[in-house]
Amino acid sequence: KDEIIILAIETSCDETSAAVVKNGRTVLSNMISSQIELHRRYGGVVPEIASRKHVEMISPIIDEALEEAGMGFEQLDCIAVTFGPGLVGALLVGMSIAKALAYALRLPLVGVDHIEGHISANYIAHPELEPPFLCLVVSGGHTHLVWVKDYGEYSLIGQTRDDAAGEAYDKVARALGLNYPGGPAIDSIAKHGNAEAVQFPRAYMEEDNFDFSFSGLKTAVLNYLNSLKQRNESYNVADIAASFQQAVVDVLVTKTIKAAQKIGVTRIAMAGGVAANSSLRECMKQKAQECGFELYYPSPVLCTDNAAMIACAAYYSLMKGKIHDLSLTVEPSFSN
Ligand code: KG4
Ligand code: ZN
Repeated sequence: KDEIIILAIETSCDETSAAVVKNGRTVLSNMISSQIELHRRYGGVVPEIASRKHVEMISPIIDEALEEAGMGFEQLDCIAVTFGPGLVGALLVGMSIAKALAYALRLPLVGVDHIEGHISANYIAHPELEPPFLCLVVSGGHTHLVWVKDYGEYSLIGQTRDDAAGEAYDKVARALGLNYPGGPAIDSIAKHGNAEAVQFPRAYMEEDNFDFSFSGLKTAVLNYLNSLKQRNESYNVADIAASFQQAVVDVLVTKTIKAAQKIGVTRIAMAGGVAANSSLRECMKQKAQECGFELYYPSPVLCTDNAAMIACAAYYSLMKGKIHDLSLTVEPSFSN
């Protein structure tokens, strides 16, 4: 068959998404229903609320994805779904409907690792991109440096030992009185701040250590804020946001470039919600150019959670014959 149409479902966190993708890289539809407004008043994602909203939204979103793509169920060749990592109740909603569809339509079912999905967003954004490359995956739940050796073939070069980069953004933003999610809020206010205003720590910068740690940085920002408040001193939120962001970006860029040099790839990609960050994009672009690497990153919608990236990853699994049966289960935690 020369045209493979995949319907993909993504419900790992607070976005209910369904997409129809042709031959892995041509997006016919990518519908995303965000729950951000629902969770904002709690300052973060509330798992039970997320699951319930997924249950409510999943069928309409699938219908919309098919309609937008101009497709009926009978034209589909495969059902793809995120099996983890993520919130267990949220993942189960997508998994249940994906299995039901695969069973009823007698189609192959492909379970996709969420992180592999994020990486694959780059294939959609850059039709010419092929492995091998090094990918920095930075989102609310993950900070991973992944060596993409081939389609579906990965080697983990480094990861966070505590907080993920996006998690640090969200927690610092909350302390600064900014709205959830904190990443975009810090991104925009930092544009008006001085990134040199406060020297926050950069963790594990020594040679050959490609792991990350952001909890020390987060604590440093919180302590700094508390000491100012105790002394009743006024402070500039933009300066603190910019200085925090600079610390995160310095670490991410330095380690990614060093890792790329060490393993000897010529291309670097970025993925995940934090890859939408304007300062990270700018600094990585500059450093990559200086050091002779080609740099790839998806548009902001493809950086944050969406089902098109899941369909893309599923396509390459399907091409390798990697399909699942109905015993597929969700895996909430990350495993190498
Ligand atoms: O990939 P994603 O949508 O979900 C996960 O898989 O976690 O990433 C969400 C994370 C949140 O922590 C959010 O604050 C962060 O990505 N984020 C950003 C930006 N946009 C989203 N962080 C920094 N700058 C941004 N522009
Ligand atoms: Zn994600």
